[in-house]
Amino acid sequence: MLNLAWWQSAVIYEIYPRSFQDSNGDGIGDLAGIIQRLDYLVKLGVDAIWVAPIYRSPMADFGYDVADYCGIDPIFGTMQDFDRLLEEAHLRGLKVILDFVPNHSSDQHPWFIESRSSCENPKRDWYLWRGEPNNWMSNFGGPGWEWDERTNQYYYHSFLKEQPDLNWRNPEVRTAMYDVLRFWLDKGVDGFRVDVMWLIIKDNLFHDNPPNPQYRLGQSSGNSFLPVYNSNRPEVHAVVAEMRAIIDSYPERVLIGEIYLPLTDLMAYYGQELKGANLPFNFFLLQSAWDAHTVAEIISEYMGVLPSGAWPNWVLGNHDNARIASRVGVLQTPIAAMLLLTLPGTLTIYYGEELGMTNVSIPPEDVLDPAEKNQPGIGMGRDPERTPMPWDCSEMAGFTRGRPWLPIGDDHQVVNVEIMERDETSILNLYRRLIALRRAHPVLASGGMRSVTASGNLLSYERVAENERFLVLLNFGQSPVQAATEAGIVLATTNSHRDGERVNNFIGLQGSVGMVIRIAL
Ligand code: GLC
Ligand code: CA
Repeated sequence: MLNLAWWQSAVIYEIYPRSFQDSNGDGIGDLAGIIQRLDYLVKLGVDAIWVAPIYRSPMADFGYDVADYCGIDPIFGTMQDFDRLLEEAHLRGLKVILDFVPNHSSDQHPWFIESRSSCENPKRDWYLWRGEPNNWMSNFGGPGWEWDERTNQYYYHSFLKEQPDLNWRNPEVRTAMYDVLRFWLDKGVDGFRVDVMWLIIKDNLFHDNPPNPQYRLGQSSGNSFLPVYNSNRPEVHAVVAEMRAIIDSYPERVLIGEIYLPLTDLMAYYGQELKGANLPFNFFLLQSAWDAHTVAEIISEYMGVLPSGAWPNWVLGNHDNARIASRVGVLQTPIAAMLLLTLPGTLTIYYGEELGMTNVSIPPEDVLDPAEKNQPGIGMGRDPERTPMPWDCSEMAGFTRGRPWLPIGDDHQVVNVEIMERDETSILNLYRRLIALRRAHPVLASGGMRSVTASGNLLSYERVAENERFLVLLNFGQSPVQAATEAGIVLATTNSHRDGERVNNFIGLQGSVGMVIRIAL
C-alpha cells in the first residue's frame, strides 16, 4: 500500500458547533460541549473533526461573519477551551480542522471599521469600495453593493451587507490573513476548510456580469446574472497556492476548499503541479438526483477527470444543504452511508447524518437563517439541517439544559444516540461498522475504482488493489434485485444479518439494501 498522509485515509466529521453539545445551558453548543463528546466520535471511528467558525462574531451569519480571526467568541467559550479541545482531541488521535473565512469579514471587524471611516484611511483599500455599483449580486439575494453614507461610496459583499468582501489584490490583506493561518497552525491545528474559496478574487475592472438565461422568477435573485466576473477568476489560483505554501511549511496539515463549480473548473483547484488545495471539496453527491444511473455517472466522471496524483474526496452532507435523509428518504439512508464509505479518498460526514437525522421544518416566524429571511419561501433556508444533535431521550435530547437555539427534531425520542447505540440494526451502528471496515481494509480508501455500472436500480463497482477485490452492490430501488457476483464472502450488509455469508455467482438484494463482498482470489 501507498504511504498515505493522515488526511488521505481520513473520515472527517463536520461539527456545526452551535448544534452539537451545549455545556452551560444557554441553548447554544460550545467548545466545552464538543470536548464532552469526543469519546463518542472516537467510538464512531472518525479521524478528524472540522469545526465550523468559532471566532468572535456578531453572528449575522452565525459565525461566517468574523470580527476577530484570532479570538474565540464567548458564546463558544474561551481560548483556554479551544486549547483544551485541541489537546483532548489530539490525545484521542483525532485531528482538528478549522474553518477559515478569507473572502469577507464582519462589518464589525476593526479592519472594516477603519476602512469605512474615510477614503484616505490606510485600510480603505482592504475592502472593495466604488463610487458606482455594477450589477454583481449577493449570493443571499439582492444587490451585492451597499451604499455607505459616511464616505459616499459603495462596498461589495458577496453575502450579507454585514459581511464586506476583503480585497485580496491588496498584499497587506494577504499578509494579514496568512498571519491568521500561522497563528492557528502554530497552535497545532491540523488544517483548514477554506470558506468560498472560488469567490476570493474578483475582476479588477469590475465588469458587469452577463444575464443568466436560465434564471426564472421564484429563484434567488442572486442567480439572475452569471457570476463571470465576481467568481472563479484566474488569479484565485495564485492565492490558493500561497495558502498551500503556508500549510506545507508545517508538517502533516491539510488545505480543503469549499468550491461549488462544474467538474472541470473544480479540478483546477488542485493547482499547478498539485500545489493548490489538497482537497477541493467534491459536492456532486450533495446535488445529485438519487438513482443508480446518475450516481454511477458522477463517480465515473469525477474519477475520470482527476488530475494524475490528485486525491479524491466525497461529501454527503453539510451545513448548507438539506439532510441526506430528507433528500433521499429515510429508507435509502443505509445505501447512502454504504456508498459514501466505500468510495475512494477522503470522506466528510455532517454531524447527525450517522443518526439519519432529517430536516426539521421551522415555522416562518421562527426562522433564524439570514439566507431565508432575505428571500423567504424559496428554499434558501439552512436552519432545517442545523438543528441540535439528539443524544438521548430526555426532553432536550441531552443537547442542553436550557432552551435550544433551534428546535430539536420531534422524532428525537427514536432518532438519538442513546437509543441507536443499543440497536444493532440502527443506522448509527451501520456507520460504525462501515467506518471500521474502511479502517480494516485500506483498499477502500486508497484502492482503485473499477467497473462502475448501473443496471436498473442496481449500482455496482469494484474497489481493487493488487491482491484484493471488493464488490459493492447498492439497490437504489424499493424492489428486490438479482446481482451478478463471483465467489466470495459478504463483508458488510446494510441490514447486518447477512455478514459472513458465502456467495457464488449471483445474489439477491432486497429493496434499499447494499452489500460489500470480498471476492475470493
Ligand atoms: C459558505 C458557508 C456558508 C456561509 C457562506 C458565507 O458557503 O458554508 O454557511 O453562509 O459561506 O460565509
Ligand atoms: Ca452554550
